[in-house]
Amino acid sequence: MQDLAGKHIVLGLTGGVACYKSAELCRLLVKAGAQVQVVMTEAAAQFITPVTMQALSGRPVYLSQWDAREPNNMPHINLSREADAIVLAPASADFIARLVQGRSDELLSLMCLARPIDRVPLLVAPAMNREMWAHPATQRNLRQLDADGARVLGVGTGWQACGETGDGRMLEPAQLLEEIVAQFQPKVLAGQHVVVTAGPTFEALDPIRGITNHSSGKMGFAIARAAREAGAQVTLIAGPVHLETPRGVQRTDVLSAEKMLAAVVDAAQAATVFIATAAVADWRPAEQASQKIKKNGDGQTPVLHFVENPDILAQVARSERARQGTLFCVGFAAESENLVEHARAKRERKGIPLLVGNIGPLTFGQDDNSLLLVDAQGVRELPRAPKLQLARELVAEIAARLPRNRPTP
Ligand code: C5P
Repeated sequence: MQDLAGKHIVLGLTGGVACYKSAELCRLLVKAGAQVQVVMTEAAAQFITPVTMQALSGRPVYLSQWDAREPNNMPHINLSREADAIVLAPASADFIARLVQGRSDELLSLMCLARPIDRVPLLVAPAMNREMWAHPATQRNLRQLDADGARVLGVGTGWQACGETGDGRMLEPAQLLEEIVAQFQPKVLAGQHVVVTAGPTFEALDPIRGITNHSSGKMGFAIARAAREAGAQVTLIAGPVHLETPRGVQRTDVLSAEKMLAAVVDAAQAATVFIATAAVADWRPAEQASQKIKKNGDGQTPVLHFVENPDILAQVARSERARQGTLFCVGFAAESENLVEHARAKRERKGIPLLVGNIGPLTFGQDDNSLLLVDAQGVRELPRAPKLQLARELVAEIAARLPRNRPTP
């Protein structure tokens, strides 16, 4: 998806081994549709050459405030006025200290100081040794940077080039891209707390086997990401899936429907929106064998008995906060036919203001989908598109239905 189409990003590199990751970040930004202008400090050019960054960005790199290519000889003004965002990756401890002091004795710091502060966000991805990161001076500088309106991205934990292990690694390029894309999404859910369920449940038969389904969790994870991009605090309660947690989302993993219910009830106490996308098993085995159920060679097959699982969505929708309108509940329906009819009936049955219908076989495991929104006013289709795009559209639809945003009659 060209999430950054039409955006002009100034990518600033300062001195650090993590500069090798900035080459990949530059590629990802370009692939996402951004125009990338690289600016490097003298120290950064010790780690990666401007030639590499020019080749990847498709534009000559700026290295000096005395660059005579600019007709007015003011690259710090021109570069910062063109930018939709300035991303410093990697940002060294020294460079962060210099930003905090408002220093401006070389092009990159000069440009950051000269940027129109209300219009051009400054995103800072620190990279340094763990002791440098933990030092009170660095931590003090980061707090000040935050207070001055910059956004600090990271850091990661793990093996460091110096051979030590700990905090201070620059975030991976894909993580930085996710943060940069999020920066540009409208903050329609600012101040909201969204709880999302996603994926299948797993109902154990014995310690080895269980009953589950084909839900990939992709739609729910895309919704969690979109809600966080829109400024919400997001809790994602996931069944067994193989997906990365979206950045900035708090994730709880569960297996069974009963465990999912307990996690949801807990999280929903402080939530303002609940979106149930999980494909919860309708039934679970009445008994869970404590040891593996074995074949004993007599050709007998085991007889299984089932009990009904709790309906998580219906239960939350009956809670006092949902009935008062403080908690807005959204359900999903995966059908194989007669989508409108089934979706309408399900919305009524679950007692929820908004139900999202989709055709199961056309969505399971796919990267795109189409959705049908059913509420008291009627039916609206969101045509086939990547799940993340649909998730963003759904988030905007939910935001418009929240009490403070509803048009007054
Ligand atoms: O009842 P049905 O499974 O068709 O309803 C689908 C909707 O209800 C989805 O939003 C799903 O997440 C939710 N659900 C639930 N708990 C169940 C069954 C479904 O939350 N036990």
